[in-house]
Amino acid sequence: MSDLKIPYVNLKAQWESEKSELMPIIESVLASGNYVGGEVVDQFEAAISKFLGCPFCVAVNSCTDALVLGLAALGVRRGDEVITPPNSFIASTAAIVHLGATPVFVDVLPNQSIDPNLVEKAITKKTKAIMPVHLGGRMVDMDQISKIAESYGIAVIEDAAQSIGSTFNGKLSGTFGEVGCFSAHPLKNLNALGDGGFICFKSHEMAGEVKKLRSHGLIDRNTVEKFGYVSRLDAIQAAVLTFRLTRLSATIKSRRANADLYRSLLNRDYVFVPDDDPREQNSYHTFVVQVDHRDELIAHLLSCGIGTAIHYPIPIHLQPAAKFLGFNEGSFPVTEKQAKRILTLPINQHLKEHEIETIAQTINSFYGG
Ligand SMILES: Cc1ncc(COP(=O)(O)O)c(C=O)c1O
Repeated sequence: MSDLKIPYVNLKAQWESEKSELMPIIESVLASGNYVGGEVVDQFEAAISKFLGCPFCVAVNSCTDALVLGLAALGVRRGDEVITPPNSFIASTAAIVHLGATPVFVDVLPNQSIDPNLVEKAITKKTKAIMPVHLGGRMVDMDQISKIAESYGIAVIEDAAQSIGSTFNGKLSGTFGEVGCFSAHPLKNLNALGDGGFICFKSHEMAGEVKKLRSHGLIDRNTVEKFGYVSRLDAIQAAVLTFRLTRLSATIKSRRANADLYRSLLNRDYVFVPDDDPREQNSYHTFVVQVDHRDELIAHLLSCGIGTAIHYPIPIHLQPAAKFLGFNEGSFPVTEKQAKRILTLPINQHLKEHEIETIAQTINSFYGG
């Protein structure tokens, strides 16, 4: 994967740590001959329902599809507007566009979360849903978002792709709105061995609708009620996720400890690290700092064998694909400024304390601190 001294992610280490337990689970799925749907997927849905405290969970093949299907279940269609931040991964906006609706971008706070006050100002008669994104595991202020949504009678669909296990006022991400969408991509805290995702619904009817849509709209082997999609979670991925769910709280605990260590070591005169809200428990899918001379720092860290990432260097409204929406440089100044300063440091659960010390020291000395 990487020859760096400290890679940004370390999926090989994850595999090494669990293969003696995981290999027999994978073999048993292979031996069963059932690779699509079936009991193993039902078991995963039951396990994730229990974890989230949400009775209606549907496994799908990615969070991108979770968002498309979740928006479709809410009835979002051509002519509707969905409010969302421009600093997310492209999939949040892509899902809105795929349904023919219009993404209405709202700028973000210094901590990268969507600004709830601007959300309220962006509401029009066409607003069908608000899609907050809990970026990197940091929770959006769901008190404010829920209050706004309720007072205007608008649905909330949470993009919880990066935030499984994060909480706000003790409540899990993805369980606030009508719909919560999660990713199980290999880089996520609860990760499959390929693409995967799942959706948490408040409504039994919506969950039932999406169960049909994820498999061609079939209601039995031969009858199609509505034209649908192919968006099923494979049995192998479901089995892997059911196993890894049992380790999720340990994963989050390590990541939170890593974040604490960074906070205690990084020189805050040069490195802006947003504080956690006292109401939230951040699961730290990513640890994002904001710095001047970001690109030079990345090159310096790389020369020292340290891998980093940027989530995300090009805001969605400035992507070539979004040109038709008519935005330009200056449309969302906070997002644009952050895009030039954000840097994601390694935070995975396999990092050693001394590696975080090395990263922090390398950063501090780069700035002469
Ligand atoms: C915020 C956000 N939304 C949606 C997605 C899409 O998830 P997936 O890769 O499972 O389709 C991602 C993936 O990284 C994401 O980070």
